[in-house]
Amino acid sequence: MKLLVKNARQVVAVCSEMQKFLKSQDIDQKFVFFENATIAIDKSGIITHIGSYQDVVSIIPEAQFEEVIDASTKCVIPGLVDGHTHAVWAGDRVHEFALKLKGASYMEIHKAGGGIGFTVDKTRDASEEDLLKLYLQRLGQMLKNGTTLVESKSGYGLDTETELKMLRVIEKAKSLQPIDISSTYCGAHSVPKGMSESDATKDVIERQIPAIVNAIKNGDVVVDSIDVFCEKGVFEAESSKQILLAGKDKGMMINFHAEELNYIGGVEMGVEIGATAISHLEEISDEGIRQMALSNAVAVILPTTAHILKLKHPPVKKMLKEGVIVALGTDFNPNAYCLSMLTVMNLACIMFRMSMEESLVAATLNAAASVGKSDMHGSIELGKWGNLVIFDAPRWEHIIYQMNASEMISHVVKKGDVVF
Ligand code: NIG
Ligand code: FE
Repeated sequence: MKLLVKNARQVVAVCSEMQKFLKSQDIDQKFVFFENATIAIDKSGIITHIGSYQDVVSIIPEAQFEEVIDASTKCVIPGLVDGHTHAVWAGDRVHEFALKLKGASYMEIHKAGGGIGFTVDKTRDASEEDLLKLYLQRLGQMLKNGTTLVESKSGYGLDTETELKMLRVIEKAKSLQPIDISSTYCGAHSVPKGMSESDATKDVIERQIPAIVNAIKNGDVVVDSIDVFCEKGVFEAESSKQILLAGKDKGMMINFHAEELNYIGGVEMGVEIGATAISHLEEISDEGIRQMALSNAVAVILPTTAHILKLKHPPVKKMLKEGVIVALGTDFNPNAYCLSMLTVMNLACIMFRMSMEESLVAATLNAAASVGKSDMHGSIELGKWGNLVIFDAPRWEHIIYQMNASEMISHVVKKGDVVF
């Protein structure tokens, strides 16, 4: 056996039934946690026992474990899952942060060639090695903040060559650090300078996607999902639909940005074509909420963006009440510079009035569902990966309540290995 975590004060298991548990009026009763609990993880990284110390060691004696963590002053939650990041890029946009403080809007900066366009220039110029170095540093920060699975997008290339470069960087990072990565191709993140929306749509469908499919066949990259920035003045709902369907046709899950700044029917379109996840949703319609609840498409909510851009808040409480599966992500990118799901949970509670239980499920099991991985990630359950965040606290809620929560983390466990 690999790891025994013994006598934890509280273990918040989160359990698979909780995927839509928020439909229930009484979430507290369905929120599973154990007091004074012990967890055993086997050599292949799978959780095999959860119970009292006596129960577990009567089946497998403590001496049979390679490593033992005494958690008697600690609490345990599942490894956190970051459902939405743009983490491969060069340069930064601190100068735009200053412009935004003076009142410039995201779209004003975008239309003037800044924003995504600025980062595209820097990323095209950067070498693959430099991008990998930056990406690994960022993943290292995420790990320290308890993230064990992250969704990671391309999208600062907007041409075949650079999109492939970004996807290769994501691929290489998989074997160089412990966080599991779900990769998303986002060649339609913006319309490249000098191109029309329809030319860009054509380029993505006729040139970029075939080249990426080729790279997948050659074993150079793995691509799990396809993304588009479906937004008024960027990719409208109709072009977004064509692009997403072209990816779906090649076996990619649909996981895209919609209704961030303007309502344009992106959610209704996404549900119609079978989206796995839709992000942002500040401007979602009541009908969109209804359709998402019926379809099981996961809503990936990004508090950092609403905070930084002072956007209307997405109607999270209404989504939860109507039975939408709500997940969280950092949206780490040069606009929203946040690598911590701990910060995101705190913001989600305060800005959107999510309860701490709702926020933790959104940052674990439901974020795992947004990348199609809730079968093995996002909860502490028998048969799932032994991915844990262990921290010094009298009660688990401190991991959300304390704004310096990463300092409380004593161990991050990934598939039974202590990786931080
Ligand atoms: O999710 N809205 C589009 N994409 C990103 C921002 C990317 C950028 O500004 O570089 C987002 O917020
Ligand atoms: Fe994004």
